[in-house]
Amino acid sequence: MELDPRFAQSLVDIVAAELNQNVNITDNHGVIIASFSKERISHIHEAAARMLMSGPIREFSVTDEEERRLKGVRQGFNVPIIFGDCCVGVIGVSGEPAIAAPYARLAARFVEAALESNARQEKLVRALREKEELQSTLLNKVISVQEEERKKISRELHDETSQALTSIIVGLRVLSEHVHSDGERQKILDMRDLAVRTLEAVHHLAVQLRPALLDDLGLVAAAQKYVENYSRQYNIQVELSVVNISRERFLPEIEITLYRILQEALTNIAKHAKAAQVQVTLRKYRGKLLLTIKDNGIGFNADILSGAASDTCLGIHGMHERVALLSGNFYIDSTEGEGTGITVEIPLRRRKKTESGLGQAH
Ligand SMILES: Nc1ncnc2c1ncn2[C@@H]1O[C@H](COP(=O)(O)OP(=O)(O)OP(=O)(O)O)[C@@H](O)[C@H]1O
Ligand SMILES: [Mg+2]
Repeated sequence: MELDPRFAQSLVDIVAAELNQNVNITDNHGVIIASFSKERISHIHEAAARMLMSGPIREFSVTDEEERRLKGVRQGFNVPIIFGDCCVGVIGVSGEPAIAAPYARLAARFVEAALESNARQEKLVRALREKEELQSTLLNKVISVQEEERKKISRELHDETSQALTSIIVGLRVLSEHVHSDGERQKILDMRDLAVRTLEAVHHLAVQLRPALLDDLGLVAAAQKYVENYSRQYNIQVELSVVNISRERFLPEIEITLYRILQEALTNIAKHAKAAQVQVTLRKYRGKLLLTIKDNGIGFNADILSGAASDTCLGIHGMHERVALLSGNFYIDSTEGEGTGITVEIPLRRRKKTESGLGQAH
């Protein structure tokens, strides 16, 4: 027995979309031929209501005589829709019960199959979503721990190692004043110079790991300092524009993310771009923080980011993932011979007391 495909499809669509609502399917004359809620059935379909009262719902027919006697019912055959061991509704096909019965049964099985398949699909989608959430929670955790560790090492380098080196430098100078031979004095002063250079390297490393400025004065101050040092170190001209931001602070995870992106993007420019000029803009606009970094270097084919070699593009993927964790957008636009532009948009949220940021490891 073939079911009219259009009829079947409309049943499936309606049931799938509105399973939990009161759904009635009426024919051209407004007579109910299917009803998907027990409550609704008991209100409207007296024959079905009687069945519901008398125990578990079963197939039932409405006779010619009942159609004449009862309001709102039509002669036909009705079949319960069973889903997850429950009756979720009834499908009725009007007409001579003997002829309508196979249609009604087929329609009910069809709807049950569609419900099963929807449920399976929903389960899969839910499992996938849960996995994705777990993945970003883990990533968030990894980044938090890494940032916290960098902060700790940076502080230790500054507070312990730098202090010790400073004492050595002072001690060597004092010692050099107490020796009588010029040769020995020179050796001590050479050693002192080495200690001074080591102190500078340690200081540089501590700043790279986590600039105290970022925690103390915020993103703008830290970015300005970073750009200044970078320009001097690589001899690349960097223009930093800060628009619509005064001295305000943002959530620590936003400040750290944008700082790390600036670091990685400028490092990429020094490593790959052969650029002479870079334009960096940090702007607050419509509840978002926007960071753009544009260089006038050699550019590259951005297709490599999704191709087979993309596994090696850890820097750019890392930027992308950090931005995604803050529900932001990341765009990279590069044309060979014309330079590269990176744009990051991060929505600004209010600071919540309970929120755990990337800056704090738990
Ligand atoms: N500003 C740029 N100008 C030219 N090429 C770039 C620029 N930024 C990135 N690239 C190209 O994109 C590739 C991927 O960059 P990405 O930062 O992901 O990796 P990487 O810098 O090679 O290595 P890593 O960052 O992991 O140390 C680079 O190898 C380089 O070819
Ligand atoms: Mg890189």
